[in-house]
Amino acid sequence: MKNKKITRKITQGMYVLTTNNGGCMVDAVSQISAGDNPLISVAVMKNNYTNELLKKNKLFALSILAKDVNPNIITTFGMNSMRDINKFENTSVKEIEGINIINDSLGYMICEIIDSIDNETHTLFIGKLIEADVFKDDQAMSYNYYQENKEDLIKVTTEKGKTAWVCTICGYVYYGDTLPDDFKCPICGVDKKLFKKKD
Ligand SMILES: Cc1cc2nc3c(=O)[nH]c(=O)nc-3n(C[C@H](O)[C@H](O)[C@H](O)COP(=O)(O)O)c2cc1C
Repeated sequence: MKNKKITRKITQGMYVLTTNNGGCMVDAVSQISAGDNPLISVAVMKNNYTNELLKKNKLFALSILAKDVNPNIITTFGMNSMRDINKFENTSVKEIEGINIINDSLGYMICEIIDSIDNETHTLFIGKLIEADVFKDDQAMSYNYYQENKEDLIKVTTEKGKTAWVCTICGYVYYGDTLPDDFKCPICGVDKKLFKKKD
């Protein structure tokens, strides 16, 4: 038996990962070690533009999102690629160590990349915490909360009169009567089984 539903019980948060010239939404963040120089890991899909940037850059930052974050931050950073839009154009940020930090967040961590591990789909970047601050002490948004409330948080609108398939993970919309056999979400990479049909 491999009931993957249980993985939803792993507590993950909601973060904007930034680096020089880009960034994206992530939930796959973990603190590897504590102490004076904590190590933080983040898993980034290989087809994300942010992955390309991280392979060239020395630093990454994670801005931790609050439960009441403006959902535009999630759509801007999680449902678009910096290949197509400038995500920072309409987002309030402050620059620290040359990296954009999201103002609408609970705080940030800046890490120096010390190692990375590639698998077929993702790269796990490991960073040493070099700078961090707390902006406010509100409740963080968990990935589970996002999953349970995303239909209210993020309104996915589809064009009338066209059959649309909506990714239940990230909200990407594919138009067409059927999804191609080997279709995978071009934004978050999930299988076509996780798409819902909307007429
Ligand atoms: C809630 C949410 C969580 C996400 N978590 C991750 C993640 O942990 N790792 C990842 O690589 N992409 C994750 N994504 C997908 C990227 O944010 C998305 O593919 C983004 O458009 C990539 O942008 P880029 O091409 O500018 O890097 C997530 C998206 C959403 C909406």
